[in-house]
Amino acid sequence: MREKITEHVSWVGIRDWELRKFHGDEYSTHRGSTYNAYLVEDEKVALIDTVWAPFSKDFVKNLSQEIDLSKIDYVVINHAEIDHSGALPELMRHIPEVPIYCTAKGVGSLQGHYHESWNFQVVKTGDKLSLGSRELVFVEAPMLHWPDSMFCYLTEDNILFSNDAFGQHYASSHLYNDEVDEAELLQESLKYYANILTPFSALVTRKIHEVLGFNLPLSMICPSHGVIWRKDPAQIVHRYLEWAKGEPENQITVVYDTMWENTKRMADALVEGIQTEDPAVKVKVFNLSKSDKNDVITEVFLSKAILVGSSTINRGILTSVAGFLEEVKGLGFKNKRGGAFGSYGWSGESVKQIGEALKKAGFSVVDNGVKALWTPDEEGLNACRAYGKAFVKTISG
Ligand code: FEO
Repeated sequence: MREKITEHVSWVGIRDWELRKFHGDEYSTHRGSTYNAYLVEDEKVALIDTVWAPFSKDFVKNLSQEIDLSKIDYVVINHAEIDHSGALPELMRHIPEVPIYCTAKGVGSLQGHYHESWNFQVVKTGDKLSLGSRELVFVEAPMLHWPDSMFCYLTEDNILFSNDAFGQHYASSHLYNDEVDEAELLQESLKYYANILTPFSALVTRKIHEVLGFNLPLSMICPSHGVIWRKDPAQIVHRYLEWAKGEPENQITVVYDTMWENTKRMADALVEGIQTEDPAVKVKVFNLSKSDKNDVITEVFLSKAILVGSSTINRGILTSVAGFLEEVKGLGFKNKRGGAFGSYGWSGESVKQIGEALKKAGFSVVDNGVKALWTPDEEGLNACRAYGKAFVKTISG
């Protein structure tokens, strides 16, 4: 079902209320998501993006109820990832000759996914496609977040179709930012940035300044997930510029996993020490085996430092901690401090291994961490409290 955005532009996407995991099992979507596709109808008709493959038939059926598919002159694929291109095979069965506008890298990705020789039209930054009284202007956005990614801008309506950038995994019956809960929207936008765009922050800053340099009027930003930025669309652009700077809040996040509660006891004592030394610092605590990893990563994104703990098992660390460390390594956080802790019974390798992994992940590790043999007694807990105090002093210094 179409929802009109302007006289000439309609949302023709899909709301996926049920989605709880995205990118396989890599990204949690507590509030579902949407796959936004847009139809621009001028003298010529352009469809911008499609939807995820499981919704192909619904998407094409809905679209065909809104417009005779043979009237679509152009398909624009801003990004070849399956959640936006997945309905192309079903759509192109109906309109096999219609040109598909995408970047050169987009052709490679689309052919790699679908093994079809569609009528690809390669575009690059500054290329324009006339639809009659309005034009689509293309802007390549490589690595935001795939090599093929691009934006396009619609003149007259002054809409930026930004694909994944500025999006949120957020299903809503409403279409616009001013109609939904502001705190939820900000949380989902931040989570999206922290978990997906963090590695590309330098490119985010550069691309935003490049687009701002065009001095284009902006009435809306239409991303490919979540709601449309209609009220003060520049607000999310400024948020992205802030987030890309990677300037943390006054927060320390403590993450751990524990076998028999001993590493947990250490975590609690560390937190006591931190709070005694610096009551102003915000501390968040997560048992990694019981927490949503993407929510934890969002807190790490906001933090100036993290403390990571694990019991020693089989001369190594617990799998939830290993997975977390692998994830933070990939995200390439900058300007963050780290420390390690953990309990052990005999060999006790975990603390050293966590410290090394944090260093590899780009964290500045403050020291060799703190260990506790078996169940920490009062003396052991005091050592943790002292470590927490020293840690917060070091990172504030
Ligand atoms: Fe929403 Fe990169 O796909």
